[in-house]
Amino acid sequence: MSLFSPVFSSIMTPTIKELKKNNIPEHVAIIMDGNGRWASKRKLPRSAGHKAGVEALRDIITTSIELGIKFLTVYSFSSENWQRPEDEVNFLLNLFLVSLNEELGSLDKNGVRVRLIGERKEVPSEILKAFENAEKKTRDNDNLYFNIAFNYGSRQEIINAIKKICKEASRNDIDLEQLDERNFSDYLFTKGCPDPDFLIRTSGEYRVSNFLLWQIAYSEFYFIKTLWPDFKRKDFLRAIYYYQRRNRRFGRL
Ligand code: IPE
Ligand code: IPE
Ligand code: MG
Repeated sequence: MSLFSPVFSSIMTPTIKELKKNNIPEHVAIIMDGNGRWASKRKLPRSAGHKAGVEALRDIITTSIELGIKFLTVYSFSSENWQRPEDEVNFLLNLFLVSLNEELGSLDKNGVRVRLIGERKEVPSEILKAFENAEKKTRDNDNLYFNIAFNYGSRQEIINAIKKICKEASRNDIDLEQLDERNFSDYLFTKGCPDPDFLIRTSGEYRVSNFLLWQIAYSEFYFIKTLWPDFKRKDFLRAIYYYQRRNRRFGRL
């Protein structure tokens, strides 16, 4: 081991204590990508990657609570993901159902409030019921607001917002002169959540794939090659460490 490795490793993988308590992002959003490639690398079916992805998420939720992150929004299934082969879509739907039911008790015990972020109309009724049940059971929790983006597409979210606003305007329920950036956000699925401070995408893709386009106007981006099932607590702590080194200016000097 090199003389410098202890220093190096403490910078690369900080402990929670080494992170600045007063600069923890309030809202972290994650594009959990790379499950399929993780499985292919191991000559496993893509479904094995999705299963391993659920495990990884469990770790990140626990660490978020430990860190004092208040909002965690994860991209679990995009409105574009319906275009995948039927087998994979069906596997994913079933995995959501099983995982939601299996994890609900422990999420609730840990004070996690679950919320579905996405277009509910097209969500199969059994899954929607599981989400609504989770939302109801955890509605009084406030340790961590955990948003699951499912059947989520940001452009559609924005169009829906515009349609709602137009309808309200035609009934004189809203004065368009009063519409601003702040109250426009109230028409989005993320109503009530502050904008993400930090957006993480795993798997080495440098794109946002129709995720939270309005909300990430001033988020700090962190793209990492690690595939989602390999993204563990230490990787998350390291990401937060790098977040704490960013200088967020919001256009000011
Ligand atoms: C992310 O992993 C999970 C979903 C999109 C549902 P992928 O399934 O996209 O994995 P890759 O990108 O093909 O490796
Ligand atoms: C984005 O990943 C959606 C989720 C992680 C759920 P994709 O794998 O669907 O995104 P693209 O197709 O690489 O842009
Ligand atoms: Mg992908």
